[in-house]
Amino acid sequence: MAASTVELYTGALMPLLGLGTWQSAPGEVQEAVELAIDNGYRHIDCAHIYGNEKEIGAGINSRIQKGVVKREDMFIVSKLWNHFHEQEEVKPAFMKTLTNLNLSYLDLYFMHSPMGTKLHKDQSEAVESSDVDYIDTWKEMEKLVDEGLVKAIGVSNFSVAQLERLLSACRIKPAVHQVELHPYLTQPRLVQYCKFKGIVLTAYSPLGSPERPFRRDDEPVLLDDHVVNEIGKNYGKTSAQVLLRYHVQRGVAAVPKSVTPSQIKENIQIFDFSLSEDDMITLEGLNRNWRIAKWEFDGLPNHKFYPFKED
Ligand SMILES: NC(=O)c1ccc[n+]([C@@H]2O[C@H](COP(=O)([O-])OP(=O)(O)OC[C@H]3O[C@@H](n4cnc5c(N)ncnc54)[C@H](OP(=O)(O)O)[C@@H]3O)[C@@H](O)[C@H]2O)c1
Repeated sequence: MAASTVELYTGALMPLLGLGTWQSAPGEVQEAVELAIDNGYRHIDCAHIYGNEKEIGAGINSRIQKGVVKREDMFIVSKLWNHFHEQEEVKPAFMKTLTNLNLSYLDLYFMHSPMGTKLHKDQSEAVESSDVDYIDTWKEMEKLVDEGLVKAIGVSNFSVAQLERLLSACRIKPAVHQVELHPYLTQPRLVQYCKFKGIVLTAYSPLGSPERPFRRDDEPVLLDDHVVNEIGKNYGKTSAQVLLRYHVQRGVAAVPKSVTPSQIKENIQIFDFSLSEDDMITLEGLNRNWRIAKWEFDGLPNHKFYPFKED
């Protein structure tokens, strides 16, 4: 079963269901990518900071060489990490990703967050904020489009105010905004704003990121939500499938991560049913503004471009 697509303002079609790869170990991600492609996935969500782009590239290329897919059938996405926001660092960071993935272009390149950082002067592991403005970083990303190295550029983890500022300064508009989205964090204002501006959304952590390293025992478990479970039973679907269908039904892409064969297959079996209008409203009503990824490491909450102050 192939995933349905959403059209970006560039005219490109982005598959609504993609494979997430954060915390997919280098030793298991190649197999996961190959199995995903064999089962209809055409969108792979990568990032330099996940440390596994070489193995993901090996998986994609093995399926191209086998004739299962052509490069142009795939929608490959990666992200510029915070350490590489300086003008002279953007292109080398992009090229590193392209080399690791062993590809000649990307379909979409995100700025991973608006917050530039750098290693501490003493060259220790400590990270500190940098003053670089995300507008200046964006201008370098625009050049990657000019050079034909990437088909579209986007942002991730921006606030509405930051998007507004970027839109007033950019030459090439962001095509996609990747943010945390699920029924416990529905972000209606942000979603409406992006829709109004013609920016497509990708939902990250759509299953509630159960294996996140900073998980606390007193936090809710989205996949165990009773209401989500009950809705699934009515359609003969799992909670994961309901959580993913909720996004794609409204034109929001979702990138669930999995390295488990049965779950990789399960997560794309969402294009053979529709949630009723009432169920969509019920899911939206579960919102509790519960943000999983607060970006609380490296002193980022004090960064001048910390995006979640509006919460
Ligand atoms: N832009 C950003 O700042 C940002 C931040 C976070 C994430 N992301 C992207 O979004 C992707 C997804 O987010 P995420 O990794 O945080 O979490 P997620 O996709 O919400 O959850 C992944 C977890 O759910 C498990 N899982 C997958 N399918 C399942 C199913 N059908 N039933 C039960 N459990 C299932 C996975 O287990 P197994 O792997 O063991 O199968 C894994 O532990 C990331 O991998 C990354 O690509 C982007």
